[in-house]
Amino acid sequence: MTRNLKIALVTGGAGFIGSHLVDLLLKKNYRVIVIDNLSGGRLDNLKQHKNNKKLTFKKININNISKDEKIFKNVSYVFHFAGIGDIVPSIENPSNYMATNVQGTVKVLEASRFSKVKKIDHLDYPAKPRWALDEKAIFLKGAGIKI
Ligand SMILES: NC(=O)c1ccc[n+]([C@@H]2O[C@H](COP(=O)([O-])OP(=O)(O)OC[C@H]3O[C@@H](n4cnc5c(N)ncnc54)[C@H](O)[C@@H]3O)[C@@H](O)[C@H]2O)c1
Repeated sequence: MTRNLKIALVTGGAGFIGSHLVDLLLKKNYRVIVIDNLSGGRLDNLKQHKNNKKLTFKKININNISKDEKIFKNVSYVFHFAGIGDIVPSIENPSNYMATNVQGTVKVLEASRFSKVKKIDHLDYPAKPRWALDEKAIFLKGAGIKI
């Protein structure tokens, strides 16, 4: 039965960091929804969960989500990792980066707000790490999420 479990949505969940968080969230008995357009990530990163009913994968481009995107309904936590990370190409193609990393982030925030998601967190480059990701707990100090 997965109906009564809390739902965590991971954008970019097929990527490097997102897929590791998916592993941990499933282990912690969350229902997990991954949205990823597979532009940089790979389904292979999630293949160990192929038959896990608690995991839903949707190939979605965050740039195209509307504020009333249904997939955010009943989601408790959003972890936002969808983005383009390579720095040098951003000089060649800044519009693409703006669309995904800035406007796409706003779309994720708006959809989260519209669906009254409890907490949202993302990864950036803080002076001091605010992430502690281990087997015992995920404690995201910034967002106050303790899993
Ligand atoms: N890896 C690091 O050390 C590090 C450090 C600080 C910040 N970050 C940032 O954290 C985020 C995740 O990093 P990562 O190393 O896991 O990168 P990654 O490239 O492995 O993962 C990013 C994921 O986002 C997906 N994606 C890209 N554009 C998308 C879009 N428009 N819609 C939906 N999905 C999209 C990709 O397919 C990929 O699966 C990135 O934004 C990165 O810049 C990474």
